[in-house]
Amino acid sequence: MNTLQEHWNKIFKETPEEKLGWYESEVTQTIRFLDGVNFENKLVFLPGAGTSRLVDGLIENGAILILNDISNEALTALRKRVGNPEKHYWYCGDISKPLPKEIPAVDIWIDRAVLHFLIEDKEINGYFENLNRIVKTNGYVLLAEFSLNGAQKCAGLNVHRYSADELIERVGCNFKLLKSEEYVYVNPSGGERPYIYTLFKRNGA
Ligand SMILES: C[S@@+](CC[C@H](N)C(=O)[O-])C[C@H]1O[C@@H](n2cnc3c(N)ncnc32)[C@H](O)[C@@H]1O
Repeated sequence: MNTLQEHWNKIFKETPEEKLGWYESEVTQTIRFLDGVNFENKLVFLPGAGTSRLVDGLIENGAILILNDISNEALTALRKRVGNPEKHYWYCGDISKPLPKEIPAVDIWIDRAVLHFLIEDKEINGYFENLNRIVKTNGYVLLAEFSLNGAQKCAGLNVHRYSADELIERVGCNFKLLKSEEYVYVNPSGGERPYIYTLFKRNGA
């Protein structure tokens, strides 16, 4: 049977980056949405980083990254692209499962188009347990997922679509919503993919 890792590895192996259904040559929306957040020497966790160009933008802004993905193919491609890969942490694994203890607490968590692939409540809860465990006091969380009127499938997989209200409820009472916004991403084939963007800040001690 095709495991989830094999599924994603096949996609990253067989598809040129610019043809991926979620590819962005410019990551303007995410960076704009994070306006005011300082990345200099900040530790940023990217679940399901894929081969996103956001990685390059964050590094240019002085961030140190923890790059996670279930696909070792994606992480290998990313590692080849990024200068000084040893400056960053690399973790290949399923983000719905408990993170290794060695992963340090982080200042910022940025998820674009990853959480929505978790379908079972157990997986979603596992994701938020990880997030709650490693995001520091006063840390930021950006979640950008398919919105309620978004596509029902991506990369051949079913997705769980989100409202801002559901994200607020799932992230829990340790976090305060700073802003939310509907955003329509146009994919490389010209298809419209409505997203909900939310930015949270962790409460102080
Ligand atoms: C639609 S892509 C988005 C990639 C990247 N965040 C971006 O915006 O370009 C989803 C990514 O999540 C990864 N992924 C899917 N399920 C995952 C899981 N359970 N744990 C970690 N990564 C996962 C995939 O391998 C893929 O890289």
